[in-house]
Amino acid sequence: MTGRIAVIGAGPCSLAQLAAFQSARHQGAEVPEVVCFERQNDWGGLWNYTWRTGLDENGEPVHSSMYRYLWSNGPKECLEFADYTFDRHFKQPIPSFPPREVLFDYIVGRARHYDLRNWVRFSTAVRLVAFDDDSGRFTVTAEDFGEGRVYSEDFDHVVVATGHFSTPSVPAFEGIGSFPGRVLHSHDFRSADEFAGKDLVVVGSSYSAEDIALQCQKYGARSVTISYRTAPMGFHWPDNMKEVPLITRVEGGTVHFKDGGKVDADAIILCTGYQHHFPFLEDRLRLKTNNRLWPLGLYKGVVWEDNPKLHYLGMQDQYYTFSMFDAQAWFARDVILGRIALPSKAEMEKDSAAWRAREETLSNPFEDIDFQTDYTRALCELTDYPDFDLDLAAKHFKAWEHHKEESITGYRDKAFSSPCTGTMAPLHHTPWVEAMDDSMETFLESR
Ligand SMILES: Cc1cc2nc3c(=O)[nH]c(=O)nc-3n(C[C@H](O)[C@H](O)[C@H](O)COP(=O)(O)OP(=O)(O)OC[C@H]3O[C@@H](n4cnc5c(N)ncnc54)[C@H](O)[C@@H]3O)c2cc1C
Ligand SMILES: NC(=O)c1ccc[n+]([C@@H]2O[C@H](COP(=O)([O-])OP(=O)(O)OC[C@H]3O[C@@H](n4cnc5c(N)ncnc54)[C@H](OP(=O)(O)O)[C@@H]3O)[C@@H](O)[C@H]2O)c1
Repeated sequence: MTGRIAVIGAGPCSLAQLAAFQSARHQGAEVPEVVCFERQNDWGGLWNYTWRTGLDENGEPVHSSMYRYLWSNGPKECLEFADYTFDRHFKQPIPSFPPREVLFDYIVGRARHYDLRNWVRFSTAVRLVAFDDDSGRFTVTAEDFGEGRVYSEDFDHVVVATGHFSTPSVPAFEGIGSFPGRVLHSHDFRSADEFAGKDLVVVGSSYSAEDIALQCQKYGARSVTISYRTAPMGFHWPDNMKEVPLITRVEGGTVHFKDGGKVDADAIILCTGYQHHFPFLEDRLRLKTNNRLWPLGLYKGVVWEDNPKLHYLGMQDQYYTFSMFDAQAWFARDVILGRIALPSKAEMEKDSAAWRAREETLSNPFEDIDFQTDYTRALCELTDYPDFDLDLAAKHFKAWEHHKEESITGYRDKAFSSPCTGTMAPLHHTPWVEAMDDSMETFLESR
């Protein structure tokens, strides 16, 4: 037996980890005790929507960065669980770009299928993970909000799966402190409704900026000016949207940009990304990285090279999500169970350095997609994770990139085939720009 395992978080990555252990158990393997700690009172991670911002009911930082009317921004076929397909869960083919509630239902559907609920200690925040060199074990200190107590337990392995899109990176701009309107980070954005009829400045040029800007336009913003630091996204935006260089200063309600232009704005939304933030980890266990495809220090993107009893899931920038998390979780499971032997630290570092060297040559999204496809495939080949057609998933991602270039308002109206079952998705009954109701009930209607 390999002792006890602590899994921190109950989002898609942690649930993948629990599913991996449960599937091994179903196949007759001897699996040690797994304890999952989740700070929120329910599972699903970011997909567990809350209206709250700032601090939650326990005084903890609100975790979710998701908002109302959020639809998948990539084809669902590219994130399908190979061991629990969309066909199996919904019992009917569904369109390729579901709203959040539908994907939440799918995530927790698999967790229920594996009967994982009683593996999780909800409303319990991990406060400290410390490694003892003498015993070779971790002490995990946690706070149970329900019982109002702090306690410590020892574990032989720890899996960190707390996500990295919850602690905002918030830049400052000259004069922003005197701006009379609302200033918020995308982490605190909850609904486009409040910005109907307003003039907005959105800062950033990645997924949050793209989606929040577009969504505000869809729900009636008067104008949206998107301010980029490095490069514009360059999509064909609706007429009342435009991209401009970075903010230089704010004077009263007027926002000035690097090209000398200016706009009068009612609100500024900072879509400026997130920090990898692990305040509960001892310094020597803590991953320090920006949001990129190959963070250093993790063998196969998972095993902490300085202490291979520690694993991280989902720490990469993400084209692939659930399927890559599964590949990582199945790999971590097999390392922990001793089914996969780790090489020496020097060899692990050499392997990581080779991935990093390749990452540094990537110059466009198509190469990024190939990189993360190869990475996911390399992991899948090491375990018994069910086969699925990764080449098809990569092809879908590349088609999706082209669809976005053709029409940023229309790319969600396309349909893809499943790399797991071959099922072709139906087209959604309503074009995304006209679909104001994002409920699961309305999405699943056939019209
Ligand atoms: C706005 C937004 C939209 C997105 N949209 C999509 C999309 O359309 N499609 C897609 O595939 N991906 C999307 N993503 C990417 C997202 O990162 C993944 O889908 C997925 O949620 C990552 O799972 P995770 O388990 O790594 O982290 P999370 O989902 O962040 O879950 C981490 C969990 O850890 C818990 N936790 C944190 N700290 C502690 C602690 N100290 N103790 C105990 N528990 C703790 C949290 O409460 C949370 O439940 C989106 C991300 C954002 C921010
Ligand atoms: N389902 C959906 O529709 C949806 C919606 C939103 C987000 N998401 C997901 O959420 C995740 C996070 O996306 P994200 O866009 O929040 O983060 P991100 O991809 O890390 O991008 C961060 C952005 O912030 C900019 N930035 C950082 N610091 C800045 C500064 N000081 N000044 C100006 N700009 C600055 C960066 O610009 P540079 O390019 O200059 O570095 C970059 O454009 C992704 O996985 C995405 O898929 C999904």
